[in-house]
Amino acid sequence: MRALLAIETSCDETSAAVLDGPSSIRSNVVLSQDALHAPYGGVVPELASRQHLSSIVWVVRQALDKAGVGMRDVDAFAVTQGPGLIGSLLVGLSFAKALAYSFGRPLFGIDHIEAHIEAALIEHPEAPFPCLALVVSGGHTSIYLLEKELEYRLLGRTRDDAAGEALDKVAKFLDLGYPGGPVIEKLAAGGNPDLFPFGSPQMTDRSLDFSFSGLKTAALRHIREGGLNKTHPRLPDFLAGFEQAVCRAVMENLKRATNLHPPRSLLLSGGVARNARLRRAFEEFARRLGSAFFLPSPRLCTDNAGMVGALAWKRFLRRGEGGLDLALNAYPRSILPPTVLRKKKKKS
Ligand code: KG4
Ligand code: ZN
Repeated sequence: MRALLAIETSCDETSAAVLDGPSSIRSNVVLSQDALHAPYGGVVPELASRQHLSSIVWVVRQALDKAGVGMRDVDAFAVTQGPGLIGSLLVGLSFAKALAYSFGRPLFGIDHIEAHIEAALIEHPEAPFPCLALVVSGGHTSIYLLEKELEYRLLGRTRDDAAGEALDKVAKFLDLGYPGGPVIEKLAAGGNPDLFPFGSPQMTDRSLDFSFSGLKTAALRHIREGGLNKTHPRLPDFLAGFEQAVCRAVMENLKRATNLHPPRSLLLSGGVARNARLRRAFEEFARRLGSAFFLPSPRLCTDNAGMVGALAWKRFLRRGEGGLDLALNAYPRSILPPTVLRKKKKKS
């Protein structure tokens, strides 16, 4: 295979990439819809799918031009199937199917969260297995165990908000802008994270699932009780405290996962993996554990088609050519059930 064209439209980024090898991204064009959704403080699904529809042809053309290839040079296509916003996913999926059908090429349907994990391996194909992978984004917060390459076992996922979603919602409440994660990171710089107390979310069933709704409620209480707003002098302290609480909750579960499934390497990916505080906490933990660790460079953390193409190329190398399944469908939620660690029943 000489060239693969990948498409990603699971949320609010329209992206296309051309690859000429499993870790070789020739172009990776990402057209963000941030400005479109900013007035609403979050993604409006109907607006997102319409915007994908009007952007996708331009984005794909840009990706081909930047890579210096024509559509006839493309030997295979890849597209995100899910999880994500169903209307957004269907735009990318229908477009990719139409291209694959008309050019008579195979099409790989790719899972978005597995692609985020792959983003950490593109620049570090040497990462040893088993790996524990932590994906922290706006739509997902999950831990996976990869015993081997391309073998994913979901250990835990969020039961309510994702970590990025909690950051986005608190930013929206304070009218700070969208997306909230980077805005909070900027405004929290220089703040003292220890002045506003936040508890640690605990799962009563000992699972490795996450929950961020309690932290979000605690944040809203601090905002109301402290009369916090955009211009309040204590805002940087509050935001630093909230950011720290989110990072701590994420890292707590990773620590527990490493006790249950000692890994040879740790991976961190997803949009929130751009956050300097989380990157630092992850690095410090991995060094203390004595484990190898890998993070994607920031541009590969947030949604992009390069990671989708990289995973598809690996699938191609593992399983061969692949075909064109016109029944390939989009799915809004993760299709893997989480592994819940149930308490052992006492023998009576
Ligand atoms: O991976 P992504 O692009 O989309 C999903 O799959 O959800 O992640 C987007 C999320 C948003 O919630 C955004 O606020 C968050 O990533 N994010 C950040 C940072 N940059 C993006 N969160 C914290 N710090 C950042 N620097
Ligand atoms: Zn994502």
